[in-house]
Amino acid sequence: MRPPAEAIGTLALIVGVIAFLIFVGVEAALVYAIWRYRATRHVAGEPATFERNQRLEIAWTAAPALILAVVFVLTLGTMAEINGAGVAPAMRIAATGHQWWWEFRYGGTKTANELHIPVDTPVDLDLTSVDVIHSFWVPELGPKMDMLPGTTNHLRLLARRAGSYDGQCAEFCGVEHAWMRIRVVVQSQAEFDSWLAAQASPAATGGDGERVFLSSICVSCHAIRGTTAAGTAGPDLTHVASRATIGAGVLPNDIAHMRAWLADPQRFKPGSLMPRVPLADADLDALAAYLGSLR
Ligand code: CUA
Repeated sequence: MRPPAEAIGTLALIVGVIAFLIFVGVEAALVYAIWRYRATRHVAGEPATFERNQRLEIAWTAAPALILAVVFVLTLGTMAEINGAGVAPAMRIAATGHQWWWEFRYGGTKTANELHIPVDTPVDLDLTSVDVIHSFWVPELGPKMDMLPGTTNHLRLLARRAGSYDGQCAEFCGVEHAWMRIRVVVQSQAEFDSWLAAQASPAATGGDGERVFLSSICVSCHAIRGTTAAGTAGPDLTHVASRATIGAGVLPNDIAHMRAWLADPQRFKPGSLMPRVPLADADLDALAAYLGSLR
């Protein structure tokens, strides 16, 4: 199958060409009429009228109906194609919208905000939401698809080239809707397999930062596999340092930004459901270093 974005691009081009030809025809007739019936050629008396010209009326009813029928049939074909008609997906990934981040589940392995898929492989996302309506949209890879609480929608993805593709929640979902960014990382099958194996492994344990994490309120929302932290309200942090950004896109992910984020998430993402947790400077340093080590 073709990548969904390519199929949509082809359809848009065909519809664009049809619309352009109609535009040229209408404008040509207009310019001709202006020239042909200009004031200097005006002959005194009433202009001639044309009434009940049956052939003309049939023509201007049938022509648009025919054009719309062609566009309709092409659209149905494209819709079936981008839904992956006749091509089974090589893998399914569960994607869940949260205010204001994305959860991705590969079987039992959870990650957030950064979706990894293998190149040239049809992948189906099972989309849902835990709170309000979100919409998954990575323009270079495919159409928008709503994420509705209580329902599962499906979206076929297929990428021809490895690389990273950025997207955005496309349905207004509250104050931080704009900071609900998605990054899709398309990798060779071998790179993807080793990424998934790394994500599936538990986090290395031990150290001051882990102690700070486990003794603070962090654990009521976040999970780190390998520790006792098993919260589900916020992103799974088992391999948080492997992701490119913090807070679904608000900050680049390094230890300095992580420390600033932990010190006051509301400064960078006002309204975010992550509260400011009062911590001593030394604890903040240790916590940022610990999270930065979870690759
Ligand atoms: Cu989620 Cu807008």
